[in-house]
Amino acid sequence: MKNFINNIPKAELHLHIEGTLEPELMFKLAKRNNIKLEYKTIDEIKNAYNFTNLQSFLDIYYSGAKVLQTEQDFYDLTYEYLKKCKENNVIHTEIFFDPQTHTARNIDFKTVILGITKALEDGKNELAISSKLIMCFLRHLSQEDAFKTLDEAMKFKEKIIGIGLDSSELGNPPAKFKDVFKKAKELGFKLVAHAGEEGSYEYINDALDLLNIHRIDHGVQAINSDKLMQRLKDKQIALTVCPLSNTKLKVFDDMKEHSIKQMLDYGLNVTVNSDDPSYFGGYMNDNFHAITNSLNLTKEDIIKLVKNSFNSSFITKEEKQNFI
Ligand code: ADE
Ligand code: ZN
Repeated sequence: MKNFINNIPKAELHLHIEGTLEPELMFKLAKRNNIKLEYKTIDEIKNAYNFTNLQSFLDIYYSGAKVLQTEQDFYDLTYEYLKKCKENNVIHTEIFFDPQTHTARNIDFKTVILGITKALEDGKNELAISSKLIMCFLRHLSQEDAFKTLDEAMKFKEKIIGIGLDSSELGNPPAKFKDVFKKAKELGFKLVAHAGEEGSYEYINDALDLLNIHRIDHGVQAINSDKLMQRLKDKQIALTVCPLSNTKLKVFDDMKEHSIKQMLDYGLNVTVNSDDPSYFGGYMNDNFHAITNSLNLTKEDIIKLVKNSFNSSFITKEEKQNFI
């Protein structure tokens, strides 16, 4: 089973590029950019990754991102992740980036996006990994700030397939971003949003009704509403589930309690993803191994999960030819 999981070609649909910053690279970039870290050793960093909820993680995650300063830094971050894709047999990946985390520190939008996209181009040519880029708005900031970010992104529109919504879910409901998502839809972007990670299943309904999204990121709280489960099944709306993230952030106390197998058996379009792998202790294969071991998944389950990812990706029909 272990080899089967490792060897099957996979697609990843929920991955924050800032969440792939490994402690080793954090140290290297801090040194290169003359930035003082709060930690003295790699072990000290790893020991700090002891989260109690989403916010306790986000505080450390935003602080870690401060070492990213130049186009080269964003290039290195992205290329390191693509090498992990290769090791995990992830042949297609749809990557989130959070421009506001960087523009708020006076790093140009252009620096961020050119560093990331140059690495994606090299990853395609050198590692044969196909990719798409999704720009997320930080939901703890205002809708006005999101509009400004959307405006800046328009210069690079051809590099961005979609718009997402992430950061602190509780207290920042989908309704807050209704207008900016409407605008993004008019501009032709695909739409996704984190919903029902820590927040109630109502946020999933709201993300569908008010933001018109194509996929739900996380969505594990759907299990608490029969009506929503039926809705997600009928419409086959993709849920980009992140098992190791959910146990690390105490959404579930134990992997044995994770809802993914129940959702899969019910007929939902669930997929497996790594979210912020350097912070949550594992890339794609580790996520598959963890659920397989704790929830007794079969080979058929794994095949279904992997097929769901390719079918729910933003790969065009023409691009799909390359995967066959
Ligand atoms: N940003 C990075 N990871 C996230 C997560 N799991 N939830 C919300 N925002 C995030
Ligand atoms: Zn996420």
